[in-house]
Amino acid sequence: MIRAKSNTKLKPSKKADLQIVKKNTVKTTKYSDINLNDWKSYGHIKTDTLWEFPSRLKDGGHSNEYHGNYIPQIAQQLYERFTKKGDIVLDLFFGSGTSGIEAVNMDRRCIGVELKDDLAEKVSEKFSPKQLVTDVNIICADSASEIAKEKVKARLEIMGEKQAQFLVLHPPYDDIIKFSDKKEDLSNCSSTDEFYDLFEQVAKNGYDLLEKERFAALIIGDSYKNSEVQPLGFECMARMLKLGFKLKGIIVKDIQGNERAKGKTANLWRYRALAGGFFIFKHEYVMIFQKK
Ligand SMILES: C[S@@+](CC[C@H](N)C(=O)[O-])C[C@H]1O[C@@H](n2cnc3c(N)ncnc32)[C@H](O)[C@@H]1O
Repeated sequence: MIRAKSNTKLKPSKKADLQIVKKNTVKTTKYSDINLNDWKSYGHIKTDTLWEFPSRLKDGGHSNEYHGNYIPQIAQQLYERFTKKGDIVLDLFFGSGTSGIEAVNMDRRCIGVELKDDLAEKVSEKFSPKQLVTDVNIICADSASEIAKEKVKARLEIMGEKQAQFLVLHPPYDDIIKFSDKKEDLSNCSSTDEFYDLFEQVAKNGYDLLEKERFAALIIGDSYKNSEVQPLGFECMARMLKLGFKLKGIIVKDIQGNERAKGKTANLWRYRALAGGFFIFKHEYVMIFQKK
């Protein structure tokens, strides 16, 4: 069960706190609690486009039991940079709930939509009954559907908001990991073009449910199919731009720290790469958008 706690690692130092009180001036943006008058205290916040994390955080309620989850450090960076305490993060591919766990850890709230009912139920067990009313709402639905949009709206209303303040989209990377046999599952599409179309429908729901001028993050990697690269990241980015999002950043994230047991097959992949004229993926993208 996740205990609500402030993430001490991410807080400005005690000394910095005192300085703020002394100066008595706090300058923030509309979408973050970062005190710009004390910007030197935020050395842990990444402002460059290359993200490297040597290993995945496993404390604070996180575990690595779900193949295909993202590392909590991504949520930490994004929430501190683009949300305020109490804000609602909407995650339309909730999976094992990384976005919700970190929301609670950082005093944010979260609505997560996940297609697989057994998973949605299992993830609920990570939160206390009270948290499931006030802080984290988990909906089992197809995020591309109108029903999912209506359900999110209803939860937002219960939580006292009309729209969410941050959007997380971490879709399947086409069919690299097959999450279920359901026809609505983005990992189960008959073609990559169908994957793009379903992704766009989900992103459209996300756009409509997000507050104006607030931010969204797309976390995605590319794939190989039929001996060529499928640029999933760039095509999904293009679909989001088409919906009206403004592009704020393309971050390349080193995935070597969170790869599982690739050592055993590394040589085989190296041989295949040399023989087939391709390159082995060592990165994924974290793309940042803003709703106009
Ligand atoms: C890459 S995983 C997300 C993992 C998540 N960020 C985490 O850290 O655990 C993608 C998830 O999207 C779900 N999914 C696939 N198609 C969906 C759809 N149409 N609506 C909602 N969820 C879907 C899959 O079941 C899977 O759990």
